[in-house]
Formats: sequence, structure tokens, C-alpha cells
Amino acid sequence: MAKSKTQFTCSACAATYNKWSGRCEACGEWNTITEEAPFSAGPAGSSLGTTKGRTIELSDLSTEETPPPRTVSGVAELDRVLGGGLVPASAVLVGGDPGIGKSTLLLQAAARFARMGLKTIYVSGEEASAQVRMRAQRLGLTESPVKLAAETNLRDIMTTLEAERPQLAIIDSIQTMWSDTVSSAPGSVSQVRAAAHELTAFAKRKGIAIILVGHVTKEGQIAGPRVVEHMVDTVLYFEGERGHQFRVLRAVKNRFGPADEIGVFEMTGRGLAEVANPSALFLSDRGTPSPGSVVFAGIEGTRPVLVEFQALVAPSPTPQARRTVVGWDSGRLAMILAVLESRCDVPFAGLDVYLNVAGGMKVSEPAADLAVAAALVSAREDSALPADTVVFGEISLSGALRSVSQTENRLKEAQKLGFTTALAPKGGKAPTVDGITSNRVGDLASFVSEVFGAGHKAKD
Ligand code: TYD
Ligand code: MG
Repeated sequence: MAKSKTQFTCSACAATYNKWSGRCEACGEWNTITEEAPFSAGPAGSSLGTTKGRTIELSDLSTEETPPPRTVSGVAELDRVLGGGLVPASAVLVGGDPGIGKSTLLLQAAARFARMGLKTIYVSGEEASAQVRMRAQRLGLTESPVKLAAETNLRDIMTTLEAERPQLAIIDSIQTMWSDTVSSAPGSVSQVRAAAHELTAFAKRKGIAIILVGHVTKEGQIAGPRVVEHMVDTVLYFEGERGHQFRVLRAVKNRFGPADEIGVFEMTGRGLAEVANPSALFLSDRGTPSPGSVVFAGIEGTRPVLVEFQALVAPSPTPQARRTVVGWDSGRLAMILAVLESRCDVPFAGLDVYLNVAGGMKVSEPAADLAVAAALVSAREDSALPADTVVFGEISLSGALRSVSQTENRLKEAQKLGFTTALAPKGGKAPTVDGITSNRVGDLASFVSEVFGAGHKAKD
């Protein structure tokens, strides 16, 4: 194997290069590539061979053992995202922007788990113990039997965990931890990886559940949480728009449960409160129906969630028309604009397009395509959909509409919130739900002409 003296690593996604460049080709971030000592050089030169190791005992897949019991925190939104509670000897990564509320969430979770009888240690590498205590006081958690430490030295932390033998350890944050076996600075890709590796291996060995906090970073000096995603069992991201009080905890990877599950919280003056009915919350400040506003009946994990898409279409003052998206994928928006333009004869050239998901929610389902198209055409034609209508369906490049999964759940949730009409694609199974009239359309062009009287079918 060739020995490299130095390598260049992207601090956002950990891609490695052998020369520096301004932009990471793997993840597209700028100024994230920094010089690093190679993570592990290993013994050079010789191949391992097959004689010196010991033979590993192999076993089969059948088992007599019952799976270890999960501990529920009692915070339903958190337990669901974890896949039904915390699994012993597992490693969980909680990522999110600085200031989004990770420390608040985990301090509250620590208190709940401790009250459920888990021996819990919370290690803060960012705040002094007094600061954490002050936050605990504000959150009304001072009576909880959580043990607290402010420390960044990994060796000391592991020695303490070994002596104390907790069942749950929370490390806030992984970027502040440093191991004296790695020469680079705390926060660098090698340090963060080494710390995460040490801690997860230790947790598995000793049967401790471990939760690592990771800040999503914008500048190149500090490694982001994506660098350790592959090492842990469960990856949760805490999302939300600043200025909105809603926070969404989203499972993007879970070895012990479904991914894509979300938990919804609200940031209040006394910490994070659970939101049991997110649809009601996301639609709460909807007024009279206005052009460009469309309610999408979506599914997040196992739960239906209704969200409002808002579009604004206005003549562009500049030759280069703007396309601005918040809460949805901008590539997907470009695709839908192209389909509307070429299959339905609804042009957007020379028009600025703004698309927003209300409440700071992020939607990634393709089932939202039809709702987005409806919002765009509604804004362009200045014609509002009736207030009691929900929309869902996937759009293909040919302009055909494809049916989506869990139609019945979507309709039921819409019915529960007082909607009476659903605009959805034809085809697939067509479950009916009492109180909801399904208006089924086969392709986008007929949808656009039937609902808005726009496009080529309406032209004379
Ligand atoms: P924090 O948990 O420190 O964020 P992170 O660990 O992700 O960096 O949360 C910080 C924000 O939360 C801060 O801007 C204030 C707000 N906050 C409340 O609104 N209410 C509260 O009860 C607490 C503790 C924090
Ligand atoms: Mg914090």
C-alpha cells in the first residue's frame, strides 16, 4: 500500500483528496477542505497473512435470546423517532445547527430517562456545569437524578464512565472532545472520528447507550456530524427554521427501527414541548384561501402530516428570473416547472418563482409534486383552491400522475382536520374515506385545465 504523508479531507462529508481545492466535489460545499494527517496509517508494507490470527467462532442467525428491552423516555415524540425507545449498548448521533435546541432536548431527555430508572451521565464539553445547572433549573429538571460533568478529555471521560458504569451517557458535543492519541486539533476530522470511534466501541463493549451531539458546521475548520454517521446505529437530525418555534427531530438512519420517522416539538420559554398533532399546528394560522396556497396531505415515517405549500409568482425585474425554495428540493421545483411548461403549456419564463413550506417544515416526499404544481399554477393564475381541499400525487416527466402510498392514511388525516375534498392521481387502489370526496385525475394537463382552467386544453 502506498504511504501518503498528508491528505486533504472535507470537514463536511469526510471525502479525501490528495490535493487541496476550494470546493468539495463530493458534497459541493465550499472551503471545507483542510489538510489532515492520515487517520490511521497502519503497519506499512506487509500483508496480514492467514497464520497469526485466531479463528473467530461463527454462529448462525437463529437465536434463543430475546431482544434486550428498550427504555422509553415517556416523551412520545422522541421514543417514536428512536424506533420505540432507547436500545441498550447502542450509539445515537443527534445532529443539528448550533442553537437549534440539541442541548435542551438532550437535557430534557436525560432527565426523563433518569426518572425511568436509567443511570444517566451528561457530559458537556461546551458549557460549564453551572451553565447546564442553570438551564436545568429553567427547565424545572433540578430534581432529576442525572449526573453531570463538564469535560473534553476523552481519556478522563472514558475512565469515569468505566468507574461509574452508567446505562446512558450523553456527550455534548463530539466536536469538543479530544483524544491524546491523535495529534490534530479538537474539531478536526481525525479527532472527531477518533473520539466517535472510541466512544461507540466503548459503549458496545460495556453495554452503555451513548448519545453524541454533533453541530452542523458551515466553515471548514470544524468537522460536521456526517463524518461519523457511518459509525453509529442511529442518526437523528434536529431541524427547524430560526424564528419559528417548531422543531422536527428526524431519523435519517436507524438500525433498530424505521428511518424517516419524525418527532415534532415546540420551543417554549420552558424548553421543548411535544406536539402530538403536528398537522393542526402547521395549518394553525391559515386564513381565508389565497392564491398560491395549497394543503398537501403528506406522510412522515408512519404518520400523516398536513402542511401548507405557498407559492408566489411575479414578473421578474431582471433578465435572470429567480427560483427560491424554502423547505423543498430546488431541483425538484425546476423539474415541475419544466413539466408544467412543456406538457401543460403553462410558461414560467420571465417570472420569479418563490416556494415555501409554511411553519419551517422540510418536505422530501415526491408525493408533494402535485401540491407544488397546484400552488404554482394557483399563484400564476391568481386563482385560489377551495379551503377544504388537500392535494397529493407524484408527477412524472411525461406529465402523467402516479399514485402514492398510504392514500387511506392521508385521506383520514385530512378528514380529521375538516377537509372534504382530495385532488389525487388516478390508478392504484382507491380507498374511500367517509366525508372526503376524491377527485382523481390522470395527468397534469387535465388537472391544470380542470382545476384552474389554464394550459393548452383551455386555450382557444
Ligand atoms: P440549545 O439547546 O443551547 O441549542 P444547541 O445545543 O443546539 O446549540 O438551545 C438554544 C436556544 O434555545 C436558545 O436560542 C434559546 C432557546 N431556548 C428556549 O427558547 N427556551 C428554553 O427553555 C431553552 C433552554 C432554550
Ligand atoms: Mg448545545
